Amino acid sequence: MDTNALLYQDLEKVLVTREEIAKAVKELGQKLTEKYRGEDPIFVCILKGASVFFTDLVREIDAPLTMDFMMVSSYGSSTKSTGVVKIVKDLDKPVTDRHVVLVEDIVDSGMTLHYLKKVFANREAKSVSIVTLLDKPARRRVDLKVDYSCFNIPDAFVVGYGLDYDEKYRNLPDIGVLHPKIYENQG
Ligand code: IMP
Ligand code: MG
Repeated sequence: MDTNALLYQDLEKVLVTREEIAKAVKELGQKLTEKYRGEDPIFVCILKGASVFFTDLVREIDAPLTMDFMMVSSYGSSTKSTGVVKIVKDLDKPVTDRHVVLVEDIVDSGMTLHYLKKVFANREAKSVSIVTLLDKPARRRVDLKVDYSCFNIPDAFVVGYGLDYDEKYRNLPDIGVLHPKIYENQG
């Protein structure tokens, strides 16, 4: 899909291009290859937002790994989370004594991952690391160590490459700032 496509007309601007994403994902894959070679980690995709990033990232990692999927929902309006997290779909296998790598689309307030880190610590994972495509440090509300992040972005609501607004725009190949007129009359 090119940037003249219909979906792009709801964007204020493109923030991170598909080429920039591909380069960053490849570099991150090389770092994770070195870090986890010989460790048999579990890479956990936090659905649905991380799905596109996750499938690209694992194909850049040259080491045996297990993939698993988890879906969480944070209660709140569609553009802000409240920190109350519900596990909608859990992993298939236990993580006891395994290195767990949580793969997220974006760290915003940090509350979702703060909560999930505690969940995996209680399940006695050997380690829990956080990998995110995007980080919005200006919005952090809890102290959270992000181990790997591809891009720091300003405080704007973004969509594309897995990220949604109201379940839409996940299929945009680039990441863009959603035009506020799309959501300003919503709760
Ligand atoms: P946190 O708990 O506030 O860090 O929220 C993280 C979750 O909020 C992400 O996994 C996204 O699903 C969602 N989110 C936060 N900012 C954005 C955004 O700019 N666009 C789309 N989703 C976002
Ligand atoms: Mg998400």
